[in-house]
Amino acid sequence: MYPSPEQIAESWRKEYEKAPETLAKMEEIGTLAAAFNANVDSVVRFSGSDLQARINQAGMSLADLENIPTRGIRRPEDILRGIFRCFTLGIAEEWTAEDPEIYQWMKKELGTRKLQMGAQAGIIANTMSLTGIKRVIAHVASLPALQAEQFFKKNNLLSFDESGVLKPAYQIDRPGEEASVHWIIEFSKGDSLEIEGKTFTCPKSNRFIATYDPVLFNLVIDPHFTDFTFREPVDYIILSGYQALSENNNGTALVKKTIPVIKQWRQKNPRPVIHLEIASTQDTAVRESVARLIMPLADSAGLNEREAIDFLEVLGQQTLAEECRRQPSPENMFKALAAIKKETGCPRIQLHMFGLYMTMQDKNFPISPAADRNGMVLAAAAAASKALTGQLASYRDLTAAVSMPVSQYGIEGLKKLSAFLADENFLLTGLGSYSGCDVIAVPAIIIDHPKTLVGMGDTISAFSLLGAR
Ligand code: GLC
Repeated sequence: MYPSPEQIAESWRKEYEKAPETLAKMEEIGTLAAAFNANVDSVVRFSGSDLQARINQAGMSLADLENIPTRGIRRPEDILRGIFRCFTLGIAEEWTAEDPEIYQWMKKELGTRKLQMGAQAGIIANTMSLTGIKRVIAHVASLPALQAEQFFKKNNLLSFDESGVLKPAYQIDRPGEEASVHWIIEFSKGDSLEIEGKTFTCPKSNRFIATYDPVLFNLVIDPHFTDFTFREPVDYIILSGYQALSENNNGTALVKKTIPVIKQWRQKNPRPVIHLEIASTQDTAVRESVARLIMPLADSAGLNEREAIDFLEVLGQQTLAEECRRQPSPENMFKALAAIKKETGCPRIQLHMFGLYMTMQDKNFPISPAADRNGMVLAAAAAASKALTGQLASYRDLTAAVSMPVSQYGIEGLKKLSAFLADENFLLTGLGSYSGCDVIAVPAIIIDHPKTLVGMGDTISAFSLLGAR
């Protein structure tokens, strides 16, 4: 019999009640290493009228704004193009600038009032240090005081000083290094602006990221980190930081430079679980090499809808990519997940979309589907807490939103997925199978007016994997 709405809600409520217990179990984890990217994020909130004023000031026409030959920043106007695009479509993108003058422009025009930890490795290291994990080792390519200040003052959160001594990251100040600042321009759903008499309303709260970051562009790797992780026991490695590479700056060669590093991690005994966190990667050659060369070496990967569509494109799945772009429904995004899994052979892939997370993994994957579900529920609770409070800065913050209602939108998504899988029980359990793989899905808690969104995907992926116990 098809489950009633009460049964569905009750069933997921019970799962969410387990989240604090799941979190407590993370104490069992010895070491997490997070590589390669950490930077300083300068967060700026743009209202529709702020954006409109800037556009008017720059004297840009609608045609000007919509003319985007490449998604990159060559001059300040490109930043307005990027924000306009993301604002009007309600999407998240990151564009890079290679000219130091643009960096100076951003510093002056966008400011540095609200600074926080940025980038996948940095955000994940910070957030995970709040759990009971014994040691979190962060790779930081550039670690002067300004970067160190973005780390939580926690003694289990470590990095290397200039001589390779492992220390609490917040205490480090490597001489002669410069912090990398990225600008995160956040905007809110429902906000609008008017250009040439036409009104544009933002359909979904999101952000545009403008990045100038030479250490990231060159994928600088700290040898102290690699030496340490080759030598010492490590349970999990979370990997990211390829997204800002570009083919005109040696991008694929830089991606390839990390292959022997990953292979060496894979040879360790016991072997760490290696997770690749995908990010918005504009350069198609770089994206393709991440998909074809890195994903198959990782045990696990995490991405969102946009990133999944981008990856389909470089994996020869244009038709499906187009279908997903037209209609990013749970069924279509699930097809995307299955196609990416098949093409890359990565044993476990998680896709997080608005209101719904789905994981597809090989049957013999060392983490059981039920454990995965625990991790994903904890991830959803933590993500909602982050959106609600605007930060995850203490153990208590991590489950602040856990008793809020599971989103109806997420449950509707799960219904569609369970119809697609022809499995009604899936609606109650989130556990099923497809094409010889296990499938796990969890409806999330949605916060209507999130205080922040940046780093959400990173938080979701990390808790889903490390909380899977
Ligand atoms: C990218 C950006 C970084 C931001 C992160 C959030 O890594 O470069 O600035 O903090 O995404 O997920």
